[in-house]
Amino acid sequence: MSRLASRHLLGLENVSREDLTLILDTTDSFREVLDRPIKKLPTLRGVTVLNLFYEPSTRTRISFELAEKRLSADTVNFTTSTSSVKKGESLRDTVQNIEAMKIDMIVVRHSSAGAPYYLTQCTKSNVINAGDGSHEHPTQALLDMYTIRKKYGKLDGLRVVLIGDIKHSRVIRSNIWGLKTMGASVALCGPSTLIPSDVEKFGCDVYTNLDEALEGADVVNIMRLQLERQQAGLFPSQREYTNLFGMTRERLQRLNDNYTIMHPGPMNRGVEISSEVADGDHSVILPQVTNGQAVRMAVLYLLSGPEAEGPEA
Ligand code: CP
Repeated sequence: MSRLASRHLLGLENVSREDLTLILDTTDSFREVLDRPIKKLPTLRGVTVLNLFYEPSTRTRISFELAEKRLSADTVNFTTSTSSVKKGESLRDTVQNIEAMKIDMIVVRHSSAGAPYYLTQCTKSNVINAGDGSHEHPTQALLDMYTIRKKYGKLDGLRVVLIGDIKHSRVIRSNIWGLKTMGASVALCGPSTLIPSDVEKFGCDVYTNLDEALEGADVVNIMRLQLERQQAGLFPSQREYTNLFGMTRERLQRLNDNYTIMHPGPMNRGVEISSEVADGDHSVILPQVTNGQAVRMAVLYLLSGPEAEGPEA
């Protein structure tokens, strides 16, 4: 049994407002724990979590591992470079062999969209998506939403601009679903070559001119320019991208007074964001990372069985 409608977190597309609110409210309690001298709870004692990372990660992997440890779970870390994947073992065989050693939950990052869903079909564990291809990165969007709600006390009615590769960004996709369900007004901005042909399905305002997109925005969430897209011919040069879509100090004047600057990391400083903006007073880039740990503690707790003790312990 899970405290959410599903026992897995594969994406935010079909997560209800009630479940999103429960995750964000539960995060409040775990965020408070992170400010205590002893940041440890017995919540997941006896639960074993596999962190199955087929792609590189700094923030998400360490954040999940710390969240699990702070909740007293046993953790196992898997990376492809030191595993028998190098000898050709499949995802299914890999995970079924590890599950035979008695694990309860799997946190998975994979380059293929749908890999977390596939794991729900061939294992018994609760599965949490830590980023799958260009599909979704739900805990990143949840931590973004939590960080916004913590500052403004609400998500309803805020204007949030998501800048970058709308076609390939899993962070943008999860943010769109989550923010719209919670009542925010979402605008998308990026080069026309990086906007999907079916973009209208998101129900967002879409811009290819950054100055127009920023007008009256409360929150700007800037995505990493995926440099490999340049080789694919989807934008001419980094310099042109920076000129047209780089977030600079000059552009801040278009935003509302109490504006917020966000970036999920890793950043290309001087490309999609200037250092002045990234390190400025309105930037919440490092608080996003701190809040991410609390969000992941909340998700792990809510997906675990009803016998887990809550954050008040
Ligand atoms: N934001 C994010 O997913 O960062 P990592 O790739 O370092 O986990």
